[in-house]
Amino acid sequence: MTYKKGPSGRSAVEPFLVMEVMRAAIDREAAGGRVIHMEVGQPGAAAPQPVLEAARAALDHGRIGYTESLGLRSLRNRIARHYGETYGIDVPAERIAVTTGSSAGFNLAFLAAFDHGDRIALAAPGYPAYRNLLHALGIEVVEIPVSAETRYVLTPDLLREAHARMPLAGVLVASPANPSGTVMRPAALAGLIEAAHELGLRFISDEIYHGLVYDGIAETALATSPEAIVVNSFSKYYCMTGWRIGWMVLPESMVRPVERIAQNLYISPPEISQIAAIAAFDSRPELEAIKSSYAENRRILLDRLPPIGFDEFHPVDGAFYVYASVRRFANDSVDFARRMLAEAGVAATPGLDFDRANGHGWIRFSFAGTTPDMVEAMERLADWLR
Ligand SMILES: Cc1ncc(COP(=O)(O)O)c(C=O)c1O
Repeated sequence: MTYKKGPSGRSAVEPFLVMEVMRAAIDREAAGGRVIHMEVGQPGAAAPQPVLEAARAALDHGRIGYTESLGLRSLRNRIARHYGETYGIDVPAERIAVTTGSSAGFNLAFLAAFDHGDRIALAAPGYPAYRNLLHALGIEVVEIPVSAETRYVLTPDLLREAHARMPLAGVLVASPANPSGTVMRPAALAGLIEAAHELGLRFISDEIYHGLVYDGIAETALATSPEAIVVNSFSKYYCMTGWRIGWMVLPESMVRPVERIAQNLYISPPEISQIAAIAAFDSRPELEAIKSSYAENRRILLDRLPPIGFDEFHPVDGAFYVYASVRRFANDSVDFARRMLAEAGVAATPGLDFDRANGHGWIRFSFAGTTPDMVEAMERLADWLR
């Protein structure tokens, strides 16, 4: 059968290179080789015990069904309480939407806040799914290059310049950022939000790596403005990637639009994950122990990468990535990553995933794995590059 029309233009998004590295790593493992996984951005640890117990109890209790599209009220109330406990901010539970991971949160935010043809500013390097999702929705992505000069974050000046060149409708910022690990200083974040408001731009704050901060303070955008759209997740700090559960804090005017789209997009987030996620907030000791192991991994990488020759990177304030220049070794980080996997058995993600213009000179190492693996990876890289 021939169709009159092939795949849609909107589906022509870039592949996620990290997944291709992961496939090559699994091929190597299937052939009996050893691989240290520093490519994927997910915790090596399982969800904490209280989460697992809550999920088991929910299964024993019987039926798992749909919930309200915005999520279980008990979870929305618990998330609201979290804002009081963690940031000293009063957020009414009515402004919280539970989502199927922050990935769905971005989809909902983009659909609810922007129209086809609107222009949205993002920092480059940055998390690739923002760019690809916006592209699929017909929203124009304006990538603003950032570098060590601005600690790899957008500044009010960069935002104003981009808006003056051609008007923007919004801006999305992540702090801690993937891949640079930068945590915006609270005053810098507040200044950027104020600049966005002055220009009439919708501000979306990706706070998915909050909780994983080693240096500095990750302030929520809500401390500056209740008009910011905040996206968060149980995937990273709470070690619940596969549970596909996250949340948003919305300005009042956005709650109904998001609810209507969520009802149609996925009806409701998975109930079992919602029930379990309530217990995530009571899992602090376990989660803080996992965070300490990342802090140790970070220390190992920051010490050992420079003598090996990876000597240009932001020293990781938060999240669990080092985004390092490979310029001493190669101009093509895709080929470099391929060789590193084949010859040293260390998998990492080429920078092109995060920055189409300059990513060929960079590579991202995730240190969310075990400490012995990190030590071994540094030894393997030192031997390989000697
Ligand atoms: C910056 C950033 N935002 C969002 C996500 C999406 O995560 P999830 O959909 O699991 O919440 C990721 C995942 O790696 C990320 O790095």
